[in-house]
Amino acid sequence: MSAEHERIDLTRGDASAPLHTRVFYLLRDLQRGRALELVVDEDPDLLLEAVNFQLRRRLRWEVAEAGAGRWVVRVRHRDDGRAAGLMDLMVRDHERLDRLLAGVLAELNAGRTGAPLAEFATALRRHVEVENEILAPHFGAQPQGPTAVMFEDHERILAELDLVLESATGPEADPVQAAAYAAMLSGSMAKHEGREERELFPYWEERFRRDGDSGLLDRVQAVLEGRTGPGAPGDGVA
Ligand SMILES: [Fe+2]
Ligand SMILES: [Fe+2]
Repeated sequence: MSAEHERIDLTRGDASAPLHTRVFYLLRDLQRGRALELVVDEDPDLLLEAVNFQLRRRLRWEVAEAGAGRWVVRVRHRDDGRAAGLMDLMVRDHERLDRLLAGVLAELNAGRTGAPLAEFATALRRHVEVENEILAPHFGAQPQGPTAVMFEDHERILAELDLVLESATGPEADPVQAAAYAAMLSGSMAKHEGREERELFPYWEERFRRDGDSGLLDRVQAVLEGRTGPGAPGDGVA
């Protein structure tokens, strides 16, 4: 992680906008690996909770100094640092997949195919592998209900991924067709991720917290990062 800390003193000057608004605009585009130190004259926890809500809980922060009416608070992207739990880890990975797929779509729409597609395909297969092979068996897969729906969604999503890959690679590659398939996949994934985050992950998270299996997070993270798991021959993306 970068140690880059830019300090911004918000206790002086600019009275044209409320502190909340100024903080929102400063943090709206905060990137991973960067940290900002804000000097403020209001309770930073209250302030940042409100801003964080607007930013879809993308922030983490720690109060570095607290004095008489003056605080220094260090703010980072939520993805910097260890996941807060199983659900946090998996939702972060959904967001990573969404970003990768957005990059793929942009490339295909520009008539190009290549590296971002392979990276996305690998990330998606690892994600599905974690859910199918580690989490569903760990928490007990029912023949009906959210887990069964998840398995069906995964089959469809991987079939759609194959369509994208087939149309984007080889001598017959057709970026326009591939972009159409990628847009379809993007819609399927958005629905699927929403369903998991609403109907399945809260249940898994509750079980995870109750059982206290600390090794599970490490196993999941290792597969998502490609350190173990689906590295067997034939599992990679060409
Ligand atoms: Fe899934
Ligand atoms: Fe998922």
